[in-house]
Amino acid sequence: MSKPYVVAFANQKGGVGKTTSCVNIASCAAEKGFRVLLIDSDPQGNSSSGVGVAKRQLEMTTYDALIDDAKPEEVVMKTAFSNLYVVPSTITLAGAEFELVDMKRREAKMKAFIEKCEGYDLIVIDCPPSLSMLTINALTAADGVIIPMQCEYYALEGLTQLMGTIKRVKEMYNPGLSVLGIIITMFNGRLNLSTAVLGELKKYYKDKLFNTAVPRLVRISEAPGFGEPINYHDKYSKASEVYMKLTDEIIARIGLKPEKSNKE
Ligand SMILES: Nc1ncnc2c1ncn2[C@@H]1O[C@H](COP(=O)(O)OP(=O)(O)OP(=O)(O)O)[C@@H](O)[C@H]1O
Ligand SMILES: [Mg+2]
Repeated sequence: MSKPYVVAFANQKGGVGKTTSCVNIASCAAEKGFRVLLIDSDPQGNSSSGVGVAKRQLEMTTYDALIDDAKPEEVVMKTAFSNLYVVPSTITLAGAEFELVDMKRREAKMKAFIEKCEGYDLIVIDCPPSLSMLTINALTAADGVIIPMQCEYYALEGLTQLMGTIKRVKEMYNPGLSVLGIIITMFNGRLNLSTAVLGELKKYYKDKLFNTAVPRLVRISEAPGFGEPINYHDKYSKASEVYMKLTDEIIARIGLKPEKSNKE
């Protein structure tokens, strides 16, 4: 089997839809027949609960993968959803940030873990809202970055900073890294500001924007409370349809082809 495509969902701004994009795109890709591993690399552990992981019972997490060289079979959990696997995280991951500082090749711990993960078509990494060592590790391990962002004025300033970090990681640690695309999240086309910011984005990042913008929809925000991705929470909803379409765009941009044997 060929190597999986690794994509980091990153934006140092908080609450822009990184986790929501990560969980739902991973699950939609899995439903389409790809074997998908979701790595929760945020101490908040939101994407773990988003796929139904009860965090109180966890023994091994992303922390062990990064700090203790844990093997995939020790940390990967099967979810209740077909073809979807997860390396969960808890607040203990916050400690990794400090422990990594004194380690050799501290930026490449995630990469080393992923190199041991076999049998996946796609690996998605949910990053924390910072440009910390956890995000640097995800960017060093990734083939592509997806940037979820809201159409707000400050989002543009944040984007410039993020692009700078991606460029530095590419130069220093990961020459193969590229920006796969930008997802507009929580979009409201009736707000003048949203359309104005979208206009600016199109000016500078036309080739990077995905055509499918994700509207602000109640179904999307309530799904994590049930521990279910949107395509299971409400399969025939507008929200699910949007994420399926966006996932098709992402898969096409990566050039992923499902291996028939993966269908569960
Ligand atoms: N399209 C949407 N419609 C409605 N609510 C949404 C949508 N996308 C995300 N949300 C909600 O917005 C909030 C922030 O989203 P999310 O947790 O995905 O962002 P994040 O970037 O991962 O945040 P953090 O930086 O804290 O990790 C959540 O409550 C989520 O349910
Ligand atoms: Mg998050």
